[in-house]
Amino acid sequence: MSELLLVAGVFTAIAFAAAYFVFASFVYGAGYQPTPRRVVESMLTKADVGPNDVVYDLGAGTGAIVFRAARERGATVVGVEVEPLRIAILRFRRRFGGPRERVTIRWGNLFDLDFRPATVVAVFLWPAAMDRLKPLLEAQLRPGSRVVSHWHPVPGWEPVAQDVGNRVYLYRRP
Ligand SMILES: C[S@@+](CC[C@H](N)C(=O)[O-])C[C@H]1O[C@@H](n2cnc3c(N)ncnc32)[C@H](O)[C@@H]1O
Repeated sequence: MSELLLVAGVFTAIAFAAAYFVFASFVYGAGYQPTPRRVVESMLTKADVGPNDVVYDLGAGTGAIVFRAARERGATVVGVEVEPLRIAILRFRRRFGGPRERVTIRWGNLFDLDFRPATVVAVFLWPAAMDRLKPLLEAQLRPGSRVVSHWHPVPGWEPVAQDVGNRVYLYRRP
């Protein structure tokens, strides 16, 4: 009986931990769902990310976009994440996988961020967060900078390119 209780307790704890990991950040703008590899490829290709770019991943998760943009495209990347466990994973990956010199990890709320240095902004956030983000992007991004979004479009903006199958939307600031 006590073994049964122990097993039930362990399962409950695991279920709570998993639910926390995926859903807790919802209140800030999105739960956790890593961008699939083929979608990351499409986002980086559509945005034509290269070594001269400064990419901001707003809601960096565990780094699906951050490390590929830095490693495979040679970009300088800033990953912003609000959830502390994911920050620990991002910092671990940066430290042991690198490239350290081109990746900055920031723990904080993306809505408090100054993303004026960005040439490319990558997002995979929920619709309410996109509504909130839009005026900040309009106010801060420099002409010609790109915004690439997975799943949810930026409301009211006209994409300059799309990957319909992967739900990728590319925008260029006028
Ligand atoms: C759908 S996941 C995308 C993760 C990552 N961009 C990727 O491609 O794998 C959204 C991430 O945004 C983070 N997030 C949500 N609201 C945030 C906020 N206000 N500030 C910073 N990060 C936030 C969540 O914690 C979650 O890790």
